[in-house]
Amino acid sequence: MSPQAESGSRHYWDRTWSRFLRHQGMIAPSAKLIQQLIPHLHRHAWVLDLGCGEGRNTIYLSRIGYQSVGIDLSRKAVQVLANNLFEEEVRAVGMVGDARRLPFRTGVFDGVVAHHLLDHLDGKGFEAAFTEAGRVLRPGGVMLLTMGNFGHLRADDKVVGREDGAFVFTAGPTKGMLVRPFEAAPLADLERQGWDVLKDELTPRGSKIMVLRRREPSESAAI
Ligand SMILES: C[S@@+](CC[C@H](N)C(=O)[O-])C[C@H]1O[C@@H](n2cnc3c(N)ncnc32)[C@H](O)[C@@H]1O
Repeated sequence: MSPQAESGSRHYWDRTWSRFLRHQGMIAPSAKLIQQLIPHLHRHAWVLDLGCGEGRNTIYLSRIGYQSVGIDLSRKAVQVLANNLFEEEVRAVGMVGDARRLPFRTGVFDGVVAHHLLDHLDGKGFEAAFTEAGRVLRPGGVMLLTMGNFGHLRADDKVVGREDGAFVFTAGPTKGMLVRPFEAAPLADLERQGWDVLKDELTPRGSKIMVLRRREPSESAAI
C-alpha cells in the first residue's frame, strides 16, 4: 500500500474505534460464525483473532473456552478491547500489531479468525496476511475467514478504484477506508498450498466464508 493510503486507512480505523472509546458499548459477537470452528478445535485451544477491532469475537472466543488473542493495527481498537475485557471480566490478550507481519512464532495457534480483515487489505497485504496466518497456525490448525462483496462500489462516486482491485473512500464518514472485494484467484489453489477446504460458501449478500485446515506435512507428502 502507498504510505498515503496506508496512513489514511489506519487513520480511518483509529477514528472509528475512538468513537467506541467515547460512547462505549459493544457490538454483538458473530457467534454463529465463530461456532463453526468448534468441531475443529480442542478445548482450551489458542485462537488468534486477526484484525480484532473492539474485540467482540476475541471476547466471545474466550467465553466459549478458548485462549484468545486479539490483534489489530489500530491502537484505539486495542484500547477499546482492553476496556471491554475489564468491563466484561473476561481474560484474553489484546495487542497492537500488523496481520502482514505477525509478532508470533511459527505454529503456535490452533485456530485463526480473520473476520472482515482480509477484505480491508490491498493485494500485497492480502497475500502477506494470508501467508502469515498459515505460518502461525500449527499443522492441523484451522482458519475461519470472511470477505465482503463490495461489487456495488464500482458505481460509487465516493471511491477510487486501484489496479489491485481495491477501492479507497475519498469522502463521507468512511473517508480513508480501503476495501478489496474477494477474488476467486488467490483462493483457488489452496489445496496445492497445503490447505484443506472444509467449508467454502457465499452468503445471500455475496460474502465469502471459508474454513480452511492447515494440512499436516505427512498428508501433503501423500498427495
Ligand atoms: C471491518 S473491521 C473488523 C473487526 C473485527 N474483525 C470484527 O469482526 O468485529 C477491520 C479491522 O481490521 C483492522 N486492520 C486493518 N488492517 C490491519 C492490519 N494490517 N493488521 C491488523 N489489523 C488490521 C482494522 O483496524 C479494523 O479494526
